[in-house]
Amino acid sequence: MIEEKHIPVLLSKVIEGLNLKNDSTVVDATVNGGGHAREILKRIGQEGKLIGLDWDSGMVEKLQKDLGGEKRVKLFHSNFSELEKVAGSFRPDAILFDLGLSSLQLLASGRGFSFKADMGLKMTFDLNQRPNAEEFIRIAHVKDLEEVIRKYGEERFAGRIARAIAEYRAKKRITSAKELSEIILRVVPRRGRINPATRTFQALRIYLNHELENIESGLAGAWKIVKPEGRIAVIAYHSLEDRIVKKFFKEKAKGEQGKLINKKPIVPNREEILENPRSRSAKLRIIEKN
Ligand SMILES: C[S@@+](CC[C@H](N)C(=O)[O-])C[C@H]1O[C@@H](n2cnc3c(N)ncnc32)[C@H](O)[C@@H]1O
Repeated sequence: MIEEKHIPVLLSKVIEGLNLKNDSTVVDATVNGGGHAREILKRIGQEGKLIGLDWDSGMVEKLQKDLGGEKRVKLFHSNFSELEKVAGSFRPDAILFDLGLSSLQLLASGRGFSFKADMGLKMTFDLNQRPNAEEFIRIAHVKDLEEVIRKYGEERFAGRIARAIAEYRAKKRITSAKELSEIILRVVPRRGRINPATRTFQALRIYLNHELENIESGLAGAWKIVKPEGRIAVIAYHSLEDRIVKKFFKEKAKGEQGKLINKKPIVPNREEILENPRSRSAKLRIIEKN
């Protein structure tokens, strides 16, 4: 197994943006390997509390071993769409969403999230989630494949890719991420450094995990449970996610229920992108509830 290191994105901006105090209660709705969480723990003192959620049970189990001994920490294997139910009773002062997946999951989990890896093709955060990518690619109508790839990947070659998948699967079942990316590479021209399979993989992940719907319910739940004068910070990595966050925050600010801490999204500087290329598309937005 390849051990990957995950570098928390926009760490100092997130910490500053969450406006942490010595006894803050913080919900990290996407706790993963605890990159942001560890820094949050340093800032909230012994009176503080950290509630961590992650939809990937493997990540929660691992972090439980590392941080579970801490009395200030409570971890839950949960979708953040259930945030109100899971974390409502804690009345948090601050909530963080760092969307998507981490480098730890990309290669190490053997789930087919990465087109580079010659491994299975599940692409779901929760292994019980159905259909997974392999099943969807096997059974979906070519028109539905095309629509998913176009809508969630914003991929202009969606039709070509869907037809190539259909032709290939008529002869052989597609069982690995590498196999799928090779099919895509044959029909989409390579431009620049971004792998042509990136958009299709992103599309499948968003669709299979209902990621956009989860963000909407996660934000609605977060708004309900965060204390007045509490903050919500969200890091999004692509425009479909960021659009939802932007709209949600704008409406709250317009209705004078909250105020935007930054008018424009905070993005990583050149040094951060050089050190951590994964951060290149990150956009951080922060709101304070009135
Ligand atoms: C980018 S990582 C977070 C990294 C973390 N901030 C750190 O620095 O270590 C995103 C995490 O969100 C989790 N995730 C994705 N969708 C989720 C959902 N709907 N509910 C809960 N967790 C989710 C993924 O499993 C992944 O662990």
